[in-house]
Amino acid sequence: MTEKIPLLIDTDPGVDDALALLMAFADPRHDVVGLTVAAGNVGLQHTVRNALKLCEVAGRPEVPVFAGAAEPLVHPAEDAAHVHGIDGFGDVDLPPAAQAASAEHAALAIIRLSHEHAGKLFLVALGPLTNVALALKLDPSLPSRIKRVLVMGGAFTAHGNITAAAEFNIAVDPEAAHIVFSAFAQVEVADWEATLAHGLLHRDVEQWLAADTDSARFYELISRKTRLWSEDGRGERWFAADALAMAWALEPEAATRVEARPLLVEMAGVHTRGATIIDWNRQTGRADNARLLIGYDQQRFEARVRQALGLN
Ligand code: BDR
Ligand code: CA
Repeated sequence: MTEKIPLLIDTDPGVDDALALLMAFADPRHDVVGLTVAAGNVGLQHTVRNALKLCEVAGRPEVPVFAGAAEPLVHPAEDAAHVHGIDGFGDVDLPPAAQAASAEHAALAIIRLSHEHAGKLFLVALGPLTNVALALKLDPSLPSRIKRVLVMGGAFTAHGNITAAAEFNIAVDPEAAHIVFSAFAQVEVADWEATLAHGLLHRDVEQWLAADTDSARFYELISRKTRLWSEDGRGERWFAADALAMAWALEPEAATRVEARPLLVEMAGVHTRGATIIDWNRQTGRADNARLLIGYDQQRFEARVRQALGLN
C-alpha cells in the first residue's frame, strides 16, 4: 500500500473551511496530521473551538488542534462574522467538543511537524497566513522541509470579495502573505475568482445535505445561515472557496488549467491593500513563485463534496 501524504491544514473555521476539512478527512490518500488555527473569519476562541468540533464530527478527535495567532501581524482587521455567523459556525448553539486544543503554539507546531515529516509534508492554508508567516520568521529553513504548499487566497485579476481589489484571506494579513509568498519557491494558489468560476448550485447542495449521514446533518446545520445569505445576494450558486482549494490539494490531476507566474502582495495601496498582483506578462523579471488555479473539473469537485458529506 502506498504511504499516505501527511497533510497539515492551517485554517480559520469558518463554514467553507469546515467543508474543506471534511473533504480532507474523507480522502484515503492523505493523513491529516494536525490543524493549526488562526483568527480570521471570526476570533481565535471561536475558530479553535470550531476546529475541535469538526474533528469530533469527522470521527477524528485524536487529530491535534493548535491555537495560533489571535490577530494579524501588523494591522487589525475586520472579521467575516456577517458571512459565517458570530461563532463562525452559523450560530446554531453547538455543544463544545470533548477534547481541548494542544498547549503548543500553532507556529511551533508547523515547525515541529515539518521536521517529523521532513520532505513529505503538504501544507494547505485556508485562512489568513499569520501562523505560517510566524513559523517562517522563527525558522527560515522551513520551506526546505515542506514538499508542497497550497494557499486559498487572492484575486488574480483584482476582482476582490472583501474590497474592490482584495480577497479576504490576503486582505486580513497582507504582511503575512508577503512573507509567505517571498519565502517559498513555489506556492499553489486557489483564488476567489476560481471560486466564482466553480460555484455549486444551491438546489444540488440542498439535495446532498438532505442525506442521512452525520456529516451531512452537521453541515446542513452550520451552513444554513451562510447559504441563505449567499442565495439572497449572489444568486443560484454557492461559493465554497476553501472546498475548491482542498479539492485541488487532494486531487491535483483534476485541474484543467494552471498558470505559473510571479505573484506579489500589495501592502501599501490606498485602494489595493491586500491585492495579489500577478505579473501576467513577466515584466518584473521575478521568478514564477505561484501556480495559479484557473480551471478545475467541476464534476470531480462536486464528487469530492458529496464524498465529504458521506454520499458515495
Ligand atoms: C476565504 O475567506 C474566508 O471567509 C473563507 O473561509 C475563505 O478562506 C474566501 O475569500
Ligand atoms: Ca477560510
